[in-house]
Amino acid sequence: MSRVALVTGASRGIGRAIAQALADAGYAVVVNFASRQGDAGVTTAAIAAAGGTAIAVQADVSDPDAVARMFATVDARFGRLDALVNNAGVAQRFDRLTDIDDETWRRTLAVNLDGAFFCTRAAVPRLKAAGGGRIVNVSSGAAHTGGAIGAHYAASKAGMLALTAKAARELARDGIAVNAVLPSVIETDMLDAIAQDAGARDRLRAQFPIGRFGRPEEVARVVRFLVAEAPEYLTGEFISLRGGRL
Ligand SMILES: NC(=O)c1ccc[n+]([C@@H]2O[C@H](COP(=O)([O-])OP(=O)(O)OC[C@H]3O[C@@H](n4cnc5c(N)ncnc54)[C@H](OP(=O)(O)O)[C@@H]3O)[C@@H](O)[C@H]2O)c1
Repeated sequence: MSRVALVTGASRGIGRAIAQALADAGYAVVVNFASRQGDAGVTTAAIAAAGGTAIAVQADVSDPDAVARMFATVDARFGRLDALVNNAGVAQRFDRLTDIDDETWRRTLAVNLDGAFFCTRAAVPRLKAAGGGRIVNVSSGAAHTGGAIGAHYAASKAGMLALTAKAARELARDGIAVNAVLPSVIETDMLDAIAQDAGARDRLRAQFPIGRFGRPEEVARVVRFLVAEAPEYLTGEFISLRGGRL
């Protein structure tokens, strides 16, 4: 029985690249998505075409009942879980924090932070049952810098770092390593929320000494390392991908 990894928000972007990288590493992959079933199908089809195993499971990670149903589906289909990647996220840009409405604040925290907590809480007993495992949280450079999207997004991503730190301390004796990756700007649909037009993108790109934005596959390579190769002693770490922008 191969090892099993659940990747939230794996229908597109960084999550899709992570799902493919973990499948390449030999994991059966649970491809979570919110609403874009067709895109999730593209991810699972690509994994199957490469000889891997993947299933798509719909769940809004901000809904604890939906998360419970998703993990019940994993139990029924695979009967084990070895890794969780909390990648699902939303971003709606507000330049001034005084413009952020209540609904956007709550929705951003609900998906990005509550979702990571609900999935972690559900995953831990399963990872313990497997004799240990790995959790990777996809945070953001915005957790440290404040970023370009807004205070709501930065706060949600900073919260993920505190969740990472506490979970790493608490779960170390169980052989469960918990780490975070902090991408800066990666070429995905989310880039539309970060820099809308070509001029804004050029100005943003110029901030990176490497001269370009990151690629989803580059984040996925780091996550693959943390899940499939890194020793359990590497835990509680925050790993940035920032193209030289310090
Ligand atoms: N792109 C960047 O520059 C960047 C930088 C730093 C950090 N990040 C973080 O990296 C992660 C992935 O970003 P991305 O750029 O790949 O974003 P993306 O292309 O917009 O994809 C977002 C993914 O999250 C899923 N999702 C959204 N809300 C969800 C919910 N309530 N429940 C379950 N899944 C949900 C989407 O599912 P559907 O397809 O079904 O909508 C999709 O698979 C996010 O956490 C983001 O904050 C991105």
